Amino acid sequence: MKLETIEARRSPIHGMGVFALKRIPRGTQVIEYKGKRVKWDPNREKKNGHTELFHVTHTHVLNPRWQGNIARYINHSCAPNCEAVQEGEQIFIYAIRDIQPGEELFYSYGLVLGRRFTRDDVHRYLCRCGSAKCRGAMLSIPPSRRAQVKRWARQFAQS
Ligand SMILES: C[S@@+](CC[C@H](N)C(=O)[O-])C[C@H]1O[C@@H](n2cnc3c(N)ncnc32)[C@H](O)[C@@H]1O
Ligand SMILES: [Zn+2]
Repeated sequence: MKLETIEARRSPIHGMGVFALKRIPRGTQVIEYKGKRVKWDPNREKKNGHTELFHVTHTHVLNPRWQGNIARYINHSCAPNCEAVQEGEQIFIYAIRDIQPGEELFYSYGLVLGRRFTRDDVHRYLCRCGSAKCRGAMLSIPPSRRAQVKRWARQFAQS
């Protein structure tokens, strides 16, 4: 897909986001998520979080700080219009429904921490997507913990 089909600019959800400039039909491969392939450092998650990093193997991630493109600015939504698909060791963002000009692009991050997430994690990865289906956090949440996460997220939103 040509780059002038999307642009990065400020988002009402958080910081920068990526927006459609033209209609993007469902099924379109919108952009490759680019980044330098580097070894995964589990200590990094503790310091900075890891929403920018994409695992391509158990041991390696793509880090868009180097060799990245505007795909790094795509925000998370619990009701996304895109999905991230791994093909070999590359990640591509596909439209999962028709997207109209001006709409912000989102995929669901579904972050996996490699351990049981805590209330603090929900605070750290709190979701502000605003969708009616919002799960409360940018984490991968098993059905058995959905009510708990929603409750915690409501408490954080009120405090
Ligand atoms: C890959 S970046 C996306 C681009 C980001 N908006 C920026 O300006 O750099 C991921 C970060 O954006 C923020 N973010 C993305 N989606 C969000 C959401 N639905 N709710 C709250 N924060 C979000 C979080 O701070 C997350 O760590
Ligand atoms: Zn949400």
